[in-house]
Amino acid sequence: MNYRDTTNSNCLTTKIPTTWIFTALTFFIFAVNSALFATEPSLENLDVRTLVSRMTPLKGTTPAQWRVVWTGDATSEATISWTTAEAGKKHVVYYGTKSGGRSGKPALSQQCQSNGLYSIIQPNASKNGAGKGSEQTTKNDVPNLIAPAYYHHARITQLEPNTRYYFVLESDGQRSREFYFRTAPSEGTDFTLIHGGDSRSGHADRSRMNLRIAQQAKSNPKVLAFAHGGDYIVSGTKWEQWRLWLSQHELTTLEDGRVLPIIPTKGNHDAGKIYFEVFDLEENDERWHTTMLGKDVAMVTLDTNSPGGGPQADWLDAELSRLRPKVRWLLVQYHRPMYPAVKGPATQASIFCPLFDKYNVDLALESDGHCMKRTVPIRNGKKDSLGLVYVGEGGLGVGQRKTDSGRWYLQDGGKAGSAHHVIRLDFDSDDLRVRFILMDGSTWDDHTIEARNL
Ligand SMILES: [Fe+2]
Repeated sequence: MNYRDTTNSNCLTTKIPTTWIFTALTFFIFAVNSALFATEPSLENLDVRTLVSRMTPLKGTTPAQWRVVWTGDATSEATISWTTAEAGKKHVVYYGTKSGGRSGKPALSQQCQSNGLYSIIQPNASKNGAGKGSEQTTKNDVPNLIAPAYYHHARITQLEPNTRYYFVLESDGQRSREFYFRTAPSEGTDFTLIHGGDSRSGHADRSRMNLRIAQQAKSNPKVLAFAHGGDYIVSGTKWEQWRLWLSQHELTTLEDGRVLPIIPTKGNHDAGKIYFEVFDLEENDERWHTTMLGKDVAMVTLDTNSPGGGPQADWLDAELSRLRPKVRWLLVQYHRPMYPAVKGPATQASIFCPLFDKYNVDLALESDGHCMKRTVPIRNGKKDSLGLVYVGEGGLGVGQRKTDSGRWYLQDGGKAGSAHHVIRLDFDSDDLRVRFILMDGSTWDDHTIEARNL
């Protein structure tokens, strides 16, 4: 088999051989660590080689591309996932509330409940001449096959709320370093979320934005998780693109091993099976879900690739009806905007928006437009001081678009712009502070939403 070795490369370095990556690792690792973590880095100028050197090569059964996924009760459950280059036989996560120390492992363990080969589509052999008769086939005709890669998901439950959990990944005896994450508090709002969307292209900037997310978490221990608004990659059926995204996602991990659980949303570019394989979701019935961040904050994730009516509308109506009387903050996230700053509105708008109004949703997080926007508060399609503010549109590396700031909901209190960004959500019992943080750490917008008097 002739595998194309593009492990951990990106669009700017697609043909970089493995030896280059290891050389880069050797030369840059110390400089990178000090550059990234000693002081606030200048991310715009951080070069691609340096970024690549931070990622774990996919090799053998070495655990790489780790992530923690939250799609249910974030106080007591999590899915811990990783990737290996070889299938391996035994995949275990060791976890616990006490660190295993430098060479040990935490006390509890969970064998992965789900393992499998990512849905990889190999290049068409005939295009490269491999379909010709052997006498016509030359060395150059042999197609470069994409190396296989395997997902592993350990679903851990019965966790304690508001507790740091250490974990170590192990595949056939190959162990990762120790990581940790914090579960959501059972009640209260003393935490921060990071939201962002559209990491699908602009790989160097995507990596820089991942470092920005890590910096946000480093400078604020209250950052609990990272909600991704979708469009992780350009072509959702191409494993080679997901491979890069997953390796680059490692950059959101802090130097001390802190991992921000990801709350995933499906974008229009995330077609195919791999999205579900990456985030351990059922393709048929987990396209939308609610993540409970304790009893006071709910994040309802919707799918703008599925019809707004029918099962999704029925579920959304019932879910918002169930949640609204219970939670202090009721948020929704989905990919395509209902009140866009660039394109036309999502087809689901006529169904979703009345339900958002009916149940007094507090904030809507949108992506897809490749820009920044905050609308005026909107209810029943009009500006209304008791209405819902829609923010977002995605800037995790993708090229930014020019906005149509003349739209009524972006004027007279609303705003729009274009820059790479994340949205920082600081929860409190009385208000929710919503800030757009740019790649350089500066703030584009700082807006506070008061809790509803329901
Ligand atoms: Fe999109």
